[in-house]
Amino acid sequence: MSNISISPGKNNVGAYIKNLDLNILEAAQIKEIKNILDKYGVVFIKEQNLNSETYQNFAKSLGQLVEYPRLKGLENYPFINVLERKPTDKSVVFGGSFLHQDTSYLNKDRPRYTMLMGIEVPKNQGNTIFSSGFNAYKKLPEQIKEKIKFAKGIFSSAGPISKTRRELEARSGIKSKEVMEAEHPIVHEVNGQKSLYISPGHLMKIKINENENEELKKYLIDHVNKDEFIFSYEWKKGDIVVWDNLSIMHKASEIKNCTRIMHRITIK
Ligand SMILES: [Fe+2]
Repeated sequence: MSNISISPGKNNVGAYIKNLDLNILEAAQIKEIKNILDKYGVVFIKEQNLNSETYQNFAKSLGQLVEYPRLKGLENYPFINVLERKPTDKSVVFGGSFLHQDTSYLNKDRPRYTMLMGIEVPKNQGNTIFSSGFNAYKKLPEQIKEKIKFAKGIFSSAGPISKTRRELEARSGIKSKEVMEAEHPIVHEVNGQKSLYISPGHLMKIKINENENEELKKYLIDHVNKDEFIFSYEWKKGDIVVWDNLSIMHKASEIKNCTRIMHRITIK
């Protein structure tokens, strides 16, 4: 057994993993990390400062790497996307304003995990905000749980969050392709634990028996945004955070007048 220890994040959102050095990762530890991800949805591994090779290898140990359909990768590491915020950037921050689950608008091959490493982290800003779909589901009234048992969400790449992507696309020279849209159940199960999957940044409609229910959509979006389900994670350089998109929603917080660089990998 390894010496890994965990402590839950605020509001029981995710878990910090301690006594783990990803530079000398052992096979048994990969299994442990996966189990912790299944249980908590997101893990925070502080100050690892991996080089790109080791970082990408850690990602590969969790599954198959996928290319993000919107962005280019690093030159020798095409699966590592660079998210860079410059002091002169004035637009709303990429991935900000709306909680979401990454790429929920794909029918097939939705990335299960998203991983970030802090490369350049500003002080006192640039947190990533997480909301637990596990905890949000648990706290729903029983009659709502019953009502949404077979409900479907329609998710679109042109959903409310899409405006935050445009500056990044303009810089990378990759233009938005056609609008992508997918339908998924809004309740998912991860290792026996039910989770709310509503990706507010991409959600267009909620349907119950083919009927659209706008009221329920608003109710659920307000629900997952409640403070009691939220943990605002403060980054340090070299931190690695991995989340399961089936059970965790996230968004970027606003950043002003500073540089912030993250390396991002998505995994099937
Ligand atoms: Fe995201």
